[in-house]
Amino acid sequence: MNRKKRILTGDRPTGNLHIGHYVGSLKSRLEFQNEYDTFVLIADVQALTDNFNTPLKVRDNILELLKDYLAVGLDPKKVTFVLQSQIPQIAELTIFFSNLVSVARLMRNPTVKNELYDKKDLFKHSIPYGFLGYPVSQAADISIFNADLVPVGDDQAPHIEQTIEIVKKFNSVYGDTLKVPTLKLGTIPRLVGIDGKSKMSKSMNNTINFSDTTQDIKRKIMQMYTDPKRIHSTDPGEVKGNPVFIYHNAFNPNKSEIKDLENRYKKGQVGDIEVKEKLFNAIDAFISPIREKRLELNNKDNYLYDILKEGTLRARDEAQNTMSKVRESMKLLNFN
Ligand code: TRP
Repeated sequence: MNRKKRILTGDRPTGNLHIGHYVGSLKSRLEFQNEYDTFVLIADVQALTDNFNTPLKVRDNILELLKDYLAVGLDPKKVTFVLQSQIPQIAELTIFFSNLVSVARLMRNPTVKNELYDKKDLFKHSIPYGFLGYPVSQAADISIFNADLVPVGDDQAPHIEQTIEIVKKFNSVYGDTLKVPTLKLGTIPRLVGIDGKSKMSKSMNNTINFSDTTQDIKRKIMQMYTDPKRIHSTDPGEVKGNPVFIYHNAFNPNKSEIKDLENRYKKGQVGDIEVKEKLFNAIDAFISPIREKRLELNNKDNYLYDILKEGTLRARDEAQNTMSKVRESMKLLNFN
């Protein structure tokens, strides 16, 4: 029997997940878990590269992230959840990989470049070695678990391309040892923020979170940015690119209601309030069961740690296996 192909994805535990994550990655993970051997990495070591001075924030967000995963429907019977810091073999492989990549190549990584710009206050214009090198450790995350496919959004694509280069280099220098992974780009575009900015992101304070209360959601939707050129509800409005309609199309299952609102909006026959109230109903109905499941998990730390531990131990076996092969290929001595 063919073994199922393995998928590896992950997130940094730095804050609650939001509906942008749902559209961008969680929705497709819900499908992958049925088809692939799915590993989901909680990347706490990587989170420290730009949160090194707030370690408790990282630690506290580990279970928060796991609650989000379980609440949206990732199933611990199908998914191996892995806590990165409990797999020290990743750090070892990172060191070996770091010989195979140049500083200039790391500086050219477009995602790292953008992030360096965003973090110039934190880093005071001097780049930490660990931050510059996090794509190298991401390459180790992926190859230590023999992932076939890495499904990510476009901002992560440069890291996967870099992973492929590093793994190929490793295999050409030390002999064929590691699986060369394949990038699987999501087809779903990123979701705009409630402020109409191109990306929903915690740092831009424009998110709707799974942990938001009904009142939070109502307030956020009522404030949402719509068509700026439309002053009166009798003015014809623009539907295309309008955040409230983008959200309707992503979260409102009632397609005929959306069609009706869109038609009336274009003709100037509906107010923003009605469009937003219907959007609020749809998003609240989408988030409510997730929020409830999340609340149920609030007093279940032991259950959550058990899930994380079980997945991590399975993953550690796999990592140990890969590292024995790596060490052998690299002609390292073995004193056992
Ligand atoms: N860099 C990813 C993020 O910021 C998190 C991550 C760490 C990851 N290791 C990974 C993603 C391996 C995919 C594969 O969201």
